Amino acid sequence: MPEVANLLFQYNDDVVTKSYPSLAQRMNDDPHIKKFVQESPVNQDGMVMLDIGCGYGQFAYHLALSNPKSEIIGCDLSESFLEMAKMEGARLANLRFALMNMFNMTELPDKSLDFMFATYAIHVKHQNDLTTLFRHFAAKLKKGGSFRFILNTVKAKDGVALPDEIEQDRGIPITLHKTSKTPFNLVDFCCTEEEITQALNNAGFKCLMVEGLDTSEKMNGDFKLRNDVLLVELIVDAIRQ
Ligand SMILES: C[S@@+](CC[C@H](N)C(=O)[O-])C[C@H]1O[C@@H](n2cnc3c(N)ncnc32)[C@H](O)[C@@H]1O
Repeated sequence: MPEVANLLFQYNDDVVTKSYPSLAQRMNDDPHIKKFVQESPVNQDGMVMLDIGCGYGQFAYHLALSNPKSEIIGCDLSESFLEMAKMEGARLANLRFALMNMFNMTELPDKSLDFMFATYAIHVKHQNDLTTLFRHFAAKLKKGGSFRFILNTVKAKDGVALPDEIEQDRGIPITLHKTSKTPFNLVDFCCTEEEITQALNNAGFKCLMVEGLDTSEKMNGDFKLRNDVLLVELIVDAIRQ
């Protein structure tokens, strides 16, 4: 099984999890989050939906409220986030949360899900891991089921190809702006739109949409990016063939 991203521990830190902004605030700040929420299923009957890497569970909670006749599951590896999620989730009968590694969701039967989604939760180290992960997701989805996700990556300012050094390392090259000069790799894996589409195809999905949003300016408030790249947030829609 591919290694779980090594910065995962930060999501078990109460200070990090408790200071996460609300969904309303995030919708306000981030057009992709807004799009994601506004276009998510409503009033569906008998569907099973999974929030992969659900964090504090606000997306799952929103889906459960707007689809009272469907079952919503949120999974995560962070006990601290799950504790927060369960407190909210306890109020809705059609919502549950489970401690699960997205690479190994054995407790979910194959072909049992209608819709699965992941917001900023897909952290892999290699393109092969992306294919492995998408194959696992494809196995859990019913035929015709949908998969939507948002992830961060970078692209070269003058084209879609990643610069050579990043091509080799694949961590997102960001320097903490005020607090530190030490470069660190955001856990998100740098990948191109083509690699994502390819991994989806290899796993049995048809990619319906990839939309990139340049978030460099927003991020540069807190972080410093290399000059030759843009930070892009991708929103991707796919269907299980
Ligand atoms: C940046 S947070 C996003 C949380 C939530 N989706 C949101 O948008 O608010 C990433 C989440 O992915 C979870 N995660 C990372 N790797 C995971 C894995 N292998 N299995 C399950 N959850 C994972 C982390 O614990 C964390 O809660």
